[in-house]
Amino acid sequence: MNARPAGPDIDTALHTVLARHGPDRHALVQMLVDLQAMLGWLPRRLLADLAAAIGRTPGDVEGVAGFYRFLHLQPVGRYRLLFSDNVIERQQGSHELMARLCRQLGVAPGEPRGDGAVSVATCSCIGLSDQGPSLLVNHRLVVTHLDEQRIDQLASLVDHEVPLHDWPADWSHVQDTVHRADVLLGSTNAPGQALQAALTRGADAMLAELQTSRLRGRGGAGYPTASKWQACRQAPGPEHVVVCNADEGEPGTFKDRALLRRQADALVDGMAIAAFVLGARRGFIYLRGEYRWLLDELLALLQQRRAAGLLGARILGRAGFDFDIAVHLGAGAYVCGEESALIESLQGERGTPRIRPPFPAEKGYLGLPTVVNNVETFCAVSHIALHGGDWWAGIGTPQSTGTKIHSVSGDCERPGLYEYPFGTRIARILEDCGARHTQAVQVGGPSGQCLSEFEFNRRIAFEDVPTAGAFMVFDRRRDLFEVARGFAQFFAHESCGFCTPCRVGTELLRRRMDKLAAGAGSRHDLDVLFELDHLLHATTHCGLGATACNALRDTMQKFRPAFERRLQSLHFAPGFDLDAELSVARRLTGRNDEAAHFAQPVEASRPPP
Ligand SMILES: Cc1cc2nc3c(=O)[nH]c(=O)nc-3n(C[C@H](O)[C@H](O)[C@H](O)COP(=O)(O)O)c2cc1C
Ligand code: SF4
Repeated sequence: MNARPAGPDIDTALHTVLARHGPDRHALVQMLVDLQAMLGWLPRRLLADLAAAIGRTPGDVEGVAGFYRFLHLQPVGRYRLLFSDNVIERQQGSHELMARLCRQLGVAPGEPRGDGAVSVATCSCIGLSDQGPSLLVNHRLVVTHLDEQRIDQLASLVDHEVPLHDWPADWSHVQDTVHRADVLLGSTNAPGQALQAALTRGADAMLAELQTSRLRGRGGAGYPTASKWQACRQAPGPEHVVVCNADEGEPGTFKDRALLRRQADALVDGMAIAAFVLGARRGFIYLRGEYRWLLDELLALLQQRRAAGLLGARILGRAGFDFDIAVHLGAGAYVCGEESALIESLQGERGTPRIRPPFPAEKGYLGLPTVVNNVETFCAVSHIALHGGDWWAGIGTPQSTGTKIHSVSGDCERPGLYEYPFGTRIARILEDCGARHTQAVQVGGPSGQCLSEFEFNRRIAFEDVPTAGAFMVFDRRRDLFEVARGFAQFFAHESCGFCTPCRVGTELLRRRMDKLAAGAGSRHDLDVLFELDHLLHATTHCGLGATACNALRDTMQKFRPAFERRLQSLHFAPGFDLDAELSVARRLTGRNDEAAHFAQPVEASRPPP
């Protein structure tokens, strides 16, 4: 594997991609991903030729390519290094390590070096915060456990243009870090065993078991899985579609990463069971671009299952039960985890969330009734098929049945994966992971809740503290203002820009937080942050905008001193220094008397000592 393969020219690359996908306009995102893997970036002429070949306009194709952060419309370095930028890895020194690497390589962040050899930038969390700081190389290789020594060696490898396959293998070794396994992570079921159990039960009885289990989706919203399948099953359409959401974009979450590696058969069994219940023939796994390094293993597993009669035509020898799965790679857009944006991306479009209703269960992929479920949800389905709905409903709490996997990161001795029955207290998880002097826990990632130590007796459950899986621990050394600021930057970066309240609102949040960080804020700025929270909740088009202020609001309410000690004034402080702005005019006019200065009434509004 060279940094960038001494690759084909534009025409050969285009020819190869068209031969692989056919002139299918809906395969556009995959074609772009493949073309970039061959050429390193996407020249304009290529996009125009591709547009002509698949019957789309050049503007349309460029618009799609421009949406995804992992697709480059300008040349990038032959080595493209992306540091995972989440608050946990920042606390572990990722920014300092990136600055060190940039110094050593003589490169400015975000700009390719003059000789085109390398570019260094940040990206949102790459799902390795249990073994960070981490980075991605050319979107296909990960480097974990970064420290100064590793950075220095890495700089030397890049400077000598050492091919990626000659880099130390242990750098890319990703541990699964399972510290507590229960039903899902501890499963030893044979491939196809759960699927066989579902076939034996029959489609109606399988759906009834799911109903009995009261399984709720693990992707965040907690929608009852049986109701979703039932709605999809009843929706008219020439065919039905099953989609697995493996986008796992919520910073601090990495449980699907482990399930995809350790329990991929349970996942595929779950998807095949959905296909059996719905009568679907087509399935997709939407794998986030950051997990490109998992792709080959996943494709090999699907191939093994085809060979074993567990996927493809006449599954388990059953006439009429034909179902196959394609893996679709994302390209660096958090919003594509939202199910309707994900479907747009699957269809070769920008990942803009749709107006709902209609929901995907009625009109999803290409307008067909489509079930979208999280990786963990499908794994849970396979266990329900084997052991029945009553058994599953007996685990957890009445409203939140079964187990939940937590991705624990931050200030604790044993970061990694912990699976517990629903109803487990926060304090128990903290104790098990070896957390000391904990000040706060962010449950469910930036869009979740921030809990203070007075709340550690609360329970993980949809009816108390719901979660999609991230569990970020902050001890008393941490500045929660900086944590909240990191989250504000994340949402401003990931807003898809489609609706004004989110596009503008997340940027206003980010700027207010920067103003406070610069020590130029007042209580008025805190009031504005609360107003923005209301606005985002009430007016945005999708869940990204609606939840963008959650962590900020919680932190402001529960850790107010972290904000107040940054205030310059309790009343109002302008965002810029008017007197300083006038300095150029003073210099040009040669005036520097008292009347040439603009007095700001700062002293009058300073808080009392
Ligand atoms: C901004 C945003 C990002 C999301 N990201 C994910 C994700 O990475 N994985 C996921 O399963 N669900 C994600 N969701 C939730 C999905 O829209 C959807 O509810 C889920 O995939 C349904 O599966 P479930 O019923 O099994 O939970 C996200 C939602 C929003 C609003
Ligand atoms: S809320 Fe944000 S992410 Fe969602 S559609 Fe609007 S701009 Fe896009």
